Amino acid sequence: YNGPLEVSMERTTLISPADVEQQLAFCQSVAELTARWPEGKPLAFVDTYGCQQNEADSELLRGMLCEMGYQITDTDRGADVIVINTCAIREHAEQRVFGNVGALVHGKRRNPEQIICLCGCMAQEPHVAQRLRQSYRHVDLVFGPQQLWRFPEFLRRVMLRRGRVFETERDEGAIAEGLPVRRSGKLKAWVSIMYGCNNFCSYCIVPYTRGRERSREPKAILDEIQSLAAQGYKEITLLGQNVNSYGKDLEGGWDFPTLLERAAGIPGEFLLRFMTSHPKDATEKLFDVMARCPKVAPVIHLPFQSGNTRVLGAMNRRYTREQYLEKVAALRARLPDVVLTSDVIVGFPGETTPEFEDTLSLMEEVRFDALFTFIYSPRKGTPAAELPDPMTKAEKSANFDRLVEVQNRISLEKHRAYIGTVQRCLIDGAGEDPRNNLTARTAGGRLVHLSGDAALIGRFADIRITDCSTWALFGELSAEHPGAGG
Ligand code: 5AD
Ligand code: SF4
Repeated sequence: YNGPLEVSMERTTLISPADVEQQLAFCQSVAELTARWPEGKPLAFVDTYGCQQNEADSELLRGMLCEMGYQITDTDRGADVIVINTCAIREHAEQRVFGNVGALVHGKRRNPEQIICLCGCMAQEPHVAQRLRQSYRHVDLVFGPQQLWRFPEFLRRVMLRRGRVFETERDEGAIAEGLPVRRSGKLKAWVSIMYGCNNFCSYCIVPYTRGRERSREPKAILDEIQSLAAQGYKEITLLGQNVNSYGKDLEGGWDFPTLLERAAGIPGEFLLRFMTSHPKDATEKLFDVMARCPKVAPVIHLPFQSGNTRVLGAMNRRYTREQYLEKVAALRARLPDVVLTSDVIVGFPGETTPEFEDTLSLMEEVRFDALFTFIYSPRKGTPAAELPDPMTKAEKSANFDRLVEVQNRISLEKHRAYIGTVQRCLIDGAGEDPRNNLTARTAGGRLVHLSGDAALIGRFADIRITDCSTWALFGELSAEHPGAGG
């Protein structure tokens, strides 16, 4: 691709550099307050729920907090600022947040100066904001994901006035570049390439909480990847609710495969991953780029949600069972050993047991390497929440158990096929088991346990797979591995 890297700066979705500057000035202003703290730096704790986009957002929140003079801690105990970055995707996630936020009232009683903030997708749900306003009066600041870049301004307002701040109006969303970031890892990094979702799957709250689809400028993304590669990051994951929509709002013919191939051309020893891909927009062009670029990890997360075409229609997924299977076939024709993972929902309103069995048969046909399985959870404000839902909880959980059993068998069979092979892996951390003191990831992202010198962490190495379980592989450093004798 030789087209222009700079896209028009007039885009309405781009926050002006002056507005970003202003937030950095608010950081300085808060830093003047925190500099007068009696003993050392004040402490800030950011607690993250939900998806990788939230993890990435929390790295920005921590970056801004550091800029404001805070030291990051990993517990709410003794923290001067607590930020809960929430997820609204299922009821269960919300209940955990309400439970944990409720429990913070005791710490706040001991330290009335403590500031408690809640952000992320729950903040953007009107009934949640209402409940926080009325029944969680110890929460000082609530703001939705589209307002994240204004966190310094809000925090300063709370600090100066000690009044509660709610910034939860629905917002289409924009893009702010140049915010400080404090990354949690030295080996793996997230890079957001786009925000929001326009798909409106009928069960999903995300399009209501994260606003409309908008793509970052290619130059900003590629510069960020280049800088990460230069810093020695080994795994860079491109993030978006649906990365395959990348570029639809940009000029210059940009799309996701084009961006991915450009990213793969950046020098350095690293692997590129990406998530998530909506099957309806996963193209042969994408599969070609995956097959062509050794830096693009041979793995794709391609949520199918259901194996039944009627249910897929009711979910507003805009593909049929057959079209999904055709995509998988087109991918495997190019990358026979690609690692394929997926999401599936059991118990969508009106799903019958025979329809559910189509999900099982699709799983048998595709044989996913791993599956993230969910029981349908009604989300207020989504169309599916209005549908009749006659199946009992007990029936749904019986179906769910059947599904998990099928997938566990397939996962184990797939893992067994690795035994005896040598896999090039990134050794990424220390394991909990003293016999297997290291963890690693295959290029396809499968977890490997092994023993070896901790000095290898951060290196790619060849690992011979010797054993497996349903959830992980076990291996040993292969004799050919560089550094082991030559
Ligand atoms: N209930 C259950 N699962 C859901 N997901 C999204 N919304 C819901 C819901 N209301 C699942 C989908 C999606 C994954 C991130 O979460 O499978 O791909
Ligand atoms: Fe939700 Fe569908 Fe958008 Fe994914 S693509 S975030 S499931 S609406």
